[in-house]
Amino acid sequence: MSATAIRAPRGTLDLLGPAAAAHERVRARAAALFASAGYEQIETPAFEATELFVRGVGQATDIVEKEMYTFEDGSGRSLTLRPEGTAPVCRAYIEHGMHKRPAPVKLWYWGPFFRYERAQSGRYRQFFQVGAEAFGSADPGLDAELIALLVTLAQELDLRGLKLRIASLGTSESRAAYRQELSAFLRAHQEELPPEVRARIDTNPLRAFDAKDSRVAALMERAPLLLDRLSAQDAEHFAAVRELLDGAGIDYVVDPRLVRGLDYYTRTVFELSSSELGAQSGVGGGGRYDRLIEQLGGPPTPAIGFAAGIERLLLAAGERGASAEDRAPALYIAFAGGPPRSDERLRAFALWREALAAGIAAQVELCGRTLKRALAHADRIGVRHVAIIEGEELVLRDMRTRAQRACAAAELLYAIAQERG
Ligand code: HAM
Repeated sequence: MSATAIRAPRGTLDLLGPAAAAHERVRARAAALFASAGYEQIETPAFEATELFVRGVGQATDIVEKEMYTFEDGSGRSLTLRPEGTAPVCRAYIEHGMHKRPAPVKLWYWGPFFRYERAQSGRYRQFFQVGAEAFGSADPGLDAELIALLVTLAQELDLRGLKLRIASLGTSESRAAYRQELSAFLRAHQEELPPEVRARIDTNPLRAFDAKDSRVAALMERAPLLLDRLSAQDAEHFAAVRELLDGAGIDYVVDPRLVRGLDYYTRTVFELSSSELGAQSGVGGGGRYDRLIEQLGGPPTPAIGFAAGIERLLLAAGERGASAEDRAPALYIAFAGGPPRSDERLRAFALWREALAAGIAAQVELCGRTLKRALAHADRIGVRHVAIIEGEELVLRDMRTRAQRACAAAELLYAIAQERG
């Protein structure tokens, strides 16, 4: 009896050939963009103390309430696979005393993140994010910079149907007063609310704007809006951000009902979506979090950032995100007489190493194919040149012209390198 095959956990993806290459291309694009804007790469661990996310992301968020992969390690510490990157980057900023560096401190990151969410197209339990965080400046120019970077990244990947929504949540003080007003409004309409919204009237009333229920949505049309309750300084900050976006010709809509799923935001929040995606249309999002560093034990430090999901960027790019690169090896090394003798195998191995050293992508025939089959295989994978080894002899075959000529290894490699320019 054969053993049952084990499958990948639900909500995870194996990245095979072209998918892995597509991921890598997005990473490379993002790396170049961030480097040109003066962002330094940071990599933090895939797991952190659970407390970091409880304090950082917020107790009453979906992420902390039900989406974290939390476990105890051998010493009984509570650890959590990172569901997002901002809290870990803030932790590292504090831990490494980065506030002593000249401001703004600009960092970018890339890697896998984990959320126990209902898996569907565009929503996974392990997904990749690329993100950027900038610390130490409350200037609205930094808000505009981060928004522009997200939009530029999406445009460079040729995403279509893009829509940028922005809003301001004000400072925590103005938000606290507004939350009371909104809680009172929701309490006055309690009987119209489903249990999950009712349960959050006091802890997180803003999430009511996010409810999918059409009756709640209709009710929220009449709810008081935070955007109308901003302090003069917050309104001024928001106006300055909009002025910069207008001046740069970046299209956006102000969406007073924009809700982000994380609690740390202050002032500007933004989300970029694509009409080419289904229900999970959010490609990336972010905002200011001027109090988070302090909440995590650091000095008061204004900050702003965003993250974009790689799978969603690629889904929205569709065919345009597919690999256009030539992944075929330039050289295939085969044997004239089928399975090689040991001296032929040695020569093939040496030639392969020399080819790689010369920057020529090469593969050796390792499946015992006859020459005819090896040539057919080379054709199928799109190889241009085949080196045929027969005893001491070496023959170079051009798969396009079918021309063959005997030559020495050095000459063969030189000829291929020349042709590739
Ligand atoms: P977020 O909106 O939770 O923000 O996630 C950012 C992006 O990650 C989303 O727009 C989406 O593309 C992708 N994403 C999130 N969850 C999933 C999932 N389950 N499957 C696939 N993709 C997903 C944050 O994470 C904040 N840390 C962003 C930020 C940085 N704010 C300030 N700085």
